[in-house]
Amino acid sequence: MTQERRQEDSAAFSTDTGTRRSFVEGQYEHLWQGVSDKFDRVVSQGESDLSRVHLFMRRNFGPDFEDEMLREKYAQHERKIAETGYILDRQLIRVSDLDPRVVTLLTDSVKMREMISMFGSGAKRIVELGSGWGKNLFNLYKFGARLDAEYWGFELTRTGRELMERVGTTCAPEMTVRSSAFDYYNADFSALDGDAETCVFTHHSIEQIPEVPATLIDRILEIPGFRVCMHMEPVGFQFASDKWLDAPAGKDLMKRIDTENRRFAEKRNQNANLYALLRRYEAEGRIRITSVKKYFTSHLLANATTVITWGPATKTAGGEFRRDDL
Ligand SMILES: C[S@@+](CC[C@H](N)C(=O)[O-])C[C@H]1O[C@@H](n2cnc3c(N)ncnc32)[C@H](O)[C@@H]1O
Repeated sequence: MTQERRQEDSAAFSTDTGTRRSFVEGQYEHLWQGVSDKFDRVVSQGESDLSRVHLFMRRNFGPDFEDEMLREKYAQHERKIAETGYILDRQLIRVSDLDPRVVTLLTDSVKMREMISMFGSGAKRIVELGSGWGKNLFNLYKFGARLDAEYWGFELTRTGRELMERVGTTCAPEMTVRSSAFDYYNADFSALDGDAETCVFTHHSIEQIPEVPATLIDRILEIPGFRVCMHMEPVGFQFASDKWLDAPAGKDLMKRIDTENRRFAEKRNQNANLYALLRRYEAEGRIRITSVKKYFTSHLLANATTVITWGPATKTAGGEFRRDDL
């Protein structure tokens, strides 16, 4: 193992939150800078349509990343999908002849429609935590979330926040796009004032927080107008369930996917407590969990996305009720 790799590992596994946060922040400043460079190149070629620019900013579309490390990392992801297959609609689907980029388009649409249906038609403020450059917020808008909602990106990195604002101004001037500095270890939602119906979501960002603090849930509950929160995070290995793949898929296959997800999370010191924390709040009567969809979909099979939706215990949330965990 190289000296550099050893230092990275010790920062990633540090029990000091400041050290871990700075390490992750450095990684994502670098990644979002790579995407920002792609955005500049795409726009300089005359592109300004939101759908086209958004597509070309993705890792597997548009111009290649200039950074060799990012290029190789994402080429490896594509190879992995072809090798393992991916999860969609409770099945493990093999990719044989299909261009693996189609998987990105399919999983995008499935995730965005799930969010839009759980948020309902009244959502006036849509808030993503750990939003990066706002890929999901722009996607929600493209897939049919409300025209007149405010779209808020709460994000740790300055590069991510600035890029989101630039994409909004350049490609979606009709959309209300707002950003706020945000840190999961000290959640602050004071930027959200006024009692607008608010839906919150996370997508593969709590994964970056080994132990998410309980104060996050308290602060979300205090947001004025808060109605529903949906997590799309790789936390399926945190609870047992044998009913998330359609028959005739065997229990052995489900067990293998669980083992691979646990190993992937442990190797990277990814989140280990989100599910248990939400269950504790549910048991205390402080929230109501309305859906748990284990391994709802995947891009990397070993880092599959599980959906958990909850809201204040006192309000009735809309959307489909399904609990794979009970
Ligand atoms: C895998 S990316 C996902 C970005 C975005 N949600 C998406 O799906 O495109 C993880 C994001 O979490 C953010 N993040 C990591 N640690 C954070 C923290 N302590 N507070 C807030 N955001 C954080 C990173 O900066 C990065 O933008």
